[in-house]
Order: sequence, then C-alpha cells, then structure tokens
Amino acid sequence: MPERRLLLEHTNDPAYRTLDGYLAKGGYQGLKKALGLDRQAVIDEIKASGLRGRGGAGFPTWIKWNGIPKDTSKPHYVLCNADEGEPGTFKDKELMENTPFLVIEGMTIAAHATQSKVGYIYIRGEFVDAARAIKSAIDEAYANNYLGKNILGSGLDFDLYVHLGAGSYECGEESALMSSLMGERGMPRLKFPHAPLPTIAGLWDCPTVINNVESYACAPLILDKGGAWYAQFGASTKNSRGTKIFSVSGHVNRPGNYEVEFGTTLGELLELAGGMKGGALKACVPGGSSVPMLDAKTTMDAVIGYEELVEAGSMVGSGGCIFLNEHTCIVTFIWRTSLFYAKESCGKCTPCREGTDWLVKALNRIREGGGKPGDIELLEEICSQIDGRSFCALGDAAAWPVVGAIKVFRDEFEYFIQNGRSKVATPQAREMWPEQPFSHA
Ligand SMILES: Cc1cc2nc3c(=O)[nH]c(=O)nc-3n(C[C@H](O)[C@H](O)[C@H](O)COP(=O)(O)O)c2cc1C
Ligand code: SF4
Repeated sequence: MPERRLLLEHTNDPAYRTLDGYLAKGGYQGLKKALGLDRQAVIDEIKASGLRGRGGAGFPTWIKWNGIPKDTSKPHYVLCNADEGEPGTFKDKELMENTPFLVIEGMTIAAHATQSKVGYIYIRGEFVDAARAIKSAIDEAYANNYLGKNILGSGLDFDLYVHLGAGSYECGEESALMSSLMGERGMPRLKFPHAPLPTIAGLWDCPTVINNVESYACAPLILDKGGAWYAQFGASTKNSRGTKIFSVSGHVNRPGNYEVEFGTTLGELLELAGGMKGGALKACVPGGSSVPMLDAKTTMDAVIGYEELVEAGSMVGSGGCIFLNEHTCIVTFIWRTSLFYAKESCGKCTPCREGTDWLVKALNRIREGGGKPGDIELLEEICSQIDGRSFCALGDAAAWPVVGAIKVFRDEFEYFIQNGRSKVATPQAREMWPEQPFSHA
C-alpha cells in the first residue's frame, strides 16, 4: 500500500508554516466548520472518525473530549503532549516544525468542543526548532484573530501557551506532565480508579483534556471533510481508522516519517523506507522502544492496527518503528534499551526504581561475558515484578522489551550466557558494538 499523506502532505512546503500558506492550502476550514456546530456535534464528528489517541495508548479521542463536564464553573484546559520521549519516535517534532498550524487549529477545535479558554503545548526541551515554529505560528494566529478573544467572531475565547520541558521521558506520562507544567517535580499522580480522571481533575484540579500532537493534528481534517471520510481509511482493520505516522529508523535505506493507512503491513512500511540496509531483516520494534520486538517473518505480514499488532505480538505504541538487520546482537540491543528506562525511571516506586536497575545489572553481566545459568529466568522474574506492579506505565515499558526479546530470541541469550560472547559474530556486528566480546571471531 502506498503512503497516504493526510497530515504530512505539505511538510516540504515552507509556506505551509506561515498563516497565508496554510490558508492557501485549505487551512482553518475545519475550525470554521466546527465553530458553526455546537460542542456535542463536534465531538460526534470525532467519534464518527474513529480517531484514537496517537500518543501510545490508542484511547478513543471523543471519549476524552466528551468527558469534560458541561458546566463551566471551573476553568477547563486543553493540553497538548509534545514531549515525544519514546526512543525511535520523531513524528511530533516534524508535525510541529512543518505543520504548526495543523496542531494549533486542532487544539482550538478541542477548545470549542470542551469549552476551554486556555491551552498549553508542553514541548520537550530539546525541541528548540519545534518550539520556535509553534511560537511563531501562535503569534500569527493571535495577530489574525485565530487565537485570543472572540475567535473569528464566534464568541470563542482561547489563549494558547508554549511550555518547554527539560527533557525527561517520564514527563511525557500525562499526570507527570501536568505536575511538571504546574511547577512540581515531574512525577506521576494517582490514576483512575484511585483518583479522578484528568477530564475531571487535571491541571490545577480542573477539567483537562490531554492529547498527543498527532491526535490534535487530525481534528482539522476530520471537521473539514467529515468523520465518515476519515473513517474510510483503515476500514479493513478491526478498530483502527485513519492514518498513522511511523517514524522509521534503524537499518533502512531511507529513514524518516511515513504516514500510512491502518491496514498497511510492516513489510510495506519497510519497502516505503527503501528496504533494509547492510543485511537482511532480523527483527522489528514497531511502536517505539518500549514495545515487544517481532521476528523477521512475523514482521513482514504484520498488519498495522491497534488490535492487529497486539495479535502479532507487539503494539502500535507511539509509531517509532525500528528495523534491525541480521548483524544486530539482540542481547546488546536490549541492554541498551534497558539502560534508557533505568536512567529515566523517576524513582517514585520500588518495582521500577529497583527493578530497572537490576535488569541493567543482569544484562550487563551477560553482555560482559559473565552470565550465569538461570540468568534468563532471573530477567523474566524481575520483569514480572515490574510489569503491572509499578506506579505508572514506565515500569511496564521497561519490562516489555526484555520479555519480548527473550520470547523471540531466547537462543541468543542462552548462547551469550553459555559462551560468554555474542552469537552474532560478523564483522558488521563488531562495528555496531565495538565494546562487545566477540572473541571467537
Ligand atoms: C512514561 C510515559 C511516557 C509517555 N510519553 C508520551 C509522550 O512523549 N507523548 C505522548 O503523546 N504520550 C506519551 N505518553 C502517553 C500519555 O500518558 C498519554 O496517554 C497521551 O498523551 C494521551 O494522548 P492521546 O490520547 O492523544 O494518545 C507517555 C506515557 C508514559 C507512561
Ligand atoms: S513506574 Fe514508578 S519509578 Fe517508574 S517512572 Fe513510574 S512512578 Fe516513577
């Protein structure tokens, strides 16, 4: 299946980053239509589109918007999660840099649907260019009455602010993000059912809708062309509609962002990215480094869809798709992945704080040639103590890749433990990980 560039159609056109250029390509038609509808009709259109959150969990967007109380005795907030910390994912960065008005228009539509007067875009601190592009677009939108008081004469007031984070993966978790935005430490809060949903008590204990950059960017197209139009894309899948941007990286000839319809296979996505570089496909991590990896055979036929990828043994996640070639040492790859999660653990709860560190220690011992019989079982046991027992999903995210890799490439772990060196001993593998023990080659 070819690319279906709904969001990325104009990314190569610098004029699209200006208000005039955006309007010339049909920009703000979605907001104009939304302003002519009442709040519920906008939500119904989003419902008809089948849009699910593009930040990782795939939660239906309309349910969040609909969950904001109808009374406005308290302020309501629209919040955009632009932290994008999941390794392998760089689509939100591109959307903000090249299609900033799409994101801003989407948030303004959400403001109308949720009766919010204030919005925030929480942008990862390192994304300086993205923050500049968004800020410049916000300024232009204010100057032309697309933001601020009485937008386009509709009576809608909406102020939008940019907030830069400091580059913490945990601050992408929605409750930690809100804590960080409010000036507290970037640690997560208690979740539903132990605490109210953000739609009831989010920022400053007020109703807050939080969505990913890509989720908001879909809203203008849906309101302009209709929910039914959007829902035709991906209709072959069980319950995934529209398009999804995949950030493709790893050993491919043309890494980059590719927007495809749900229903496309990972094999077709690989083809779009120019195929494998430097060797045959060995494994694929389709949805960002936290999701379980798939072997080559499963990858090629795996259908991109929220339910379909789970059936194949992985997840859509954030869409950070990493293809690995035959020279990749899976043990080393997983050790490096685990190191990231251990470093990013916020330390609030014991299973994640201690468990992620133990994973790194055990994997490092294996990687350095000192693995012992029983180490695989030890890794599995640590993961089972983290997964589902941590305060937030970072713990799960740290456990899944390890369990997934052992499931698919157990032989590589066994070989490393028994022989004190990697099973993958090609010159290319040595080049990839120079510090690895490849002494038998
Ligand atoms: C540790 C952790 C990091 C996360 N990082 C991000 C992120 O960078 N961007 C994002 O949109 N969602 C991230 N999420 C998911 C958010 O908590 C939340 O589900 C999402 O922003 C909701 O938006 P959506 O419904 O539009 O997907 C993260 C979750 C966890 C547990
Ligand atoms: S799982 Fe626990 S320690 Fe890990 S990031 Fe979440 S709250 Fe912090």
